[in-house]
Amino acid sequence: MQKLVIQGGTSLSGEICISGAKNAALPILCASLLTAETLKIENVPQLNDVTTMLALLRQMGIDITQDGKQGVELAAASLSNLVAPYEMVKTMRAAILVLGPMLARAGKAMVSLPGGCAIGLRPVDQHIKGLQAMGAEIKIDHGYIHAQAKHLTGAHIVMDLVTVTGTENLMMAATLANGTTVLENAAREPEVTNLADCLIAMGAKIYGAGSDTITIEGVRTLHGTTHRVMPDRIETGTFLVAAAASGGEIYLRDTRADILTAVLDKLREAGATIESGQDWISLKMKGVLKSINLRTAPYPAFPTDMQAQFMVLNSVAEGTSIITETIFENRFMHVQELKRMGANIEVEGSAAIVHGVASLDGTNVMATDLRASASLVLAGLIARGETTIERIYHLDRGYEHIDEKLTRLGAKVRRLN
Ligand code: UD1
Repeated sequence: MQKLVIQGGTSLSGEICISGAKNAALPILCASLLTAETLKIENVPQLNDVTTMLALLRQMGIDITQDGKQGVELAAASLSNLVAPYEMVKTMRAAILVLGPMLARAGKAMVSLPGGCAIGLRPVDQHIKGLQAMGAEIKIDHGYIHAQAKHLTGAHIVMDLVTVTGTENLMMAATLANGTTVLENAAREPEVTNLADCLIAMGAKIYGAGSDTITIEGVRTLHGTTHRVMPDRIETGTFLVAAAASGGEIYLRDTRADILTAVLDKLREAGATIESGQDWISLKMKGVLKSINLRTAPYPAFPTDMQAQFMVLNSVAEGTSIITETIFENRFMHVQELKRMGANIEVEGSAAIVHGVASLDGTNVMATDLRASASLVLAGLIARGETTIERIYHLDRGYEHIDEKLTRLGAKVRRLN
């Protein structure tokens, strides 16, 4: 298993390009299930989750060509295998995204239940409830969702809570349903909008993506198109926090400030100077880092996927802060590891109270989930001495070439086998 060894204490400085968004690429790859024509996708990040999704789609019968860079062509002339097996779904929960499109196109789907995962229970009841409202017959048997519907029918669906992949699954399914579907209390995440833009370019009729009410008028068929994946706002935010926590100065290309407002506001509150243009963001951190309170919530509020990284920032900031996690019930697993590095953090229910300390100390730590791993990398960058991070396969699920990008910014990072 690979490890990352970081020699801490360097301020990050320089310029890097931001990759395409994992959370937009995954549903957009699944959109290929909805058409017999070729879907060309650009700016697909090279990540383990993308490899898993491509393997899943390939075993369903989709013909996939990769250009060795960030381009992928998918042609689903016919679907030969309508099953998403446990082995794949358990490594990547987003595999549930094949359910809606597969059912809409082929009238049948069998998808393993994702089960529990490290950061919480994460049920898929809203996905199922929505598809049932559209006329699907759904049975849960031996850990699998068995879904069937000769033809889905448009429905008015009020989601009990805001779910990103739930909204995406139902939106994809509704594109080929008979009649109009209205999704209320829909997720407003920019990745939902990026998927909707792709579907619209494929001939779907979707109105209101990016708001909490999305209306989809079903069409008979969708066609191929070329679509570009949006920049990864979480990768962007992670590098910005790394620069702020290390007292650095960085320039990020191929990204967007308009989808990161809550994160940029918090970084300014912490004392960073931020500038941005249409496709770039720069950050300069001079002077004292200030503690900031934050509370995660669905977009456009502060993203749960940035919570762990900001906890590192607060760990070495002046003062005490409260971080409240409202999306996932068990997303403080990085706390124990950060405490081993000298952070002063107490957890009470869904809140973490962080008392800033002068510095962290390098040691051996273990990555537990994707964003927790990112926080350990940030902690290693600012710690005194050497930090060794084990189980970095979590990191490679969601950050493209992270060690290379950090090295370009002056960090001392080595990957060991
Ligand atoms: C997506 C993101 C993930 C991010 C999360 C929240 C992708 C591939 N992943 O995950 O990076 O952390 O949004 O922004 O886009 N829930 C239910 N029932 C359901 C569905 C969800 O109770 O049917 C709950 C979950 O347990 C969780 C909350 O709703 O507590 C939000 O989850 P959701 O938005 O669905 O997360 P994902 O789409 O899995």
